[in-house]
Amino acid sequence: MRLWREEFSIETADERYVTRRQFGRFLVLTSLGMFVGNLWILARSLFRRSAAPTRRLIGIARDLPPGTARVFQYPGSEDPCLLFHTAEGRFVAYTQKCTHLSCAVFPSHDGRSLECPCHDGLFSMEDGRVLQGPPPRPLPRILLERRGDEIWAVGTDPETAA
Ligand code: FES
Repeated sequence: MRLWREEFSIETADERYVTRRQFGRFLVLTSLGMFVGNLWILARSLFRRSAAPTRRLIGIARDLPPGTARVFQYPGSEDPCLLFHTAEGRFVAYTQKCTHLSCAVFPSHDGRSLECPCHDGLFSMEDGRVLQGPPPRPLPRILLERRGDEIWAVGTDPETAA
């Protein structure tokens, strides 16, 4: 037998053998990692909810004739939303992420609804409620405030917030 084999006493057949203690340690460390990850997600979502709603200028009314829409980001820079000027002269805004699987929604040709092209979801332009398809919840509505010609986003409707 070679000299190094004598000094290095682990047999090749035993290298793949995992003891109960090693396996238990692996399970405990993996569970601990998942627990810490979940705590971090929970803390982040609580912090987001408790933060005061942001106010942001999102459009100028005269630049948006009836029947047109504008995309803006609210409340964060990675939260796309849609501001729409209805044929009746009202301004409405919703998050642009479908409540089914987060595809982007778009105003329909007649401007009376918001369509999701992924699975034919349809939302009411009036209040964001689901009219058709698989979306489980209404579209979260962005609260608006008018200051002269300026349109401001001032929060998310808590009744429709995810
Ligand atoms: S992602 Fe919108 S209907 Fe499925």
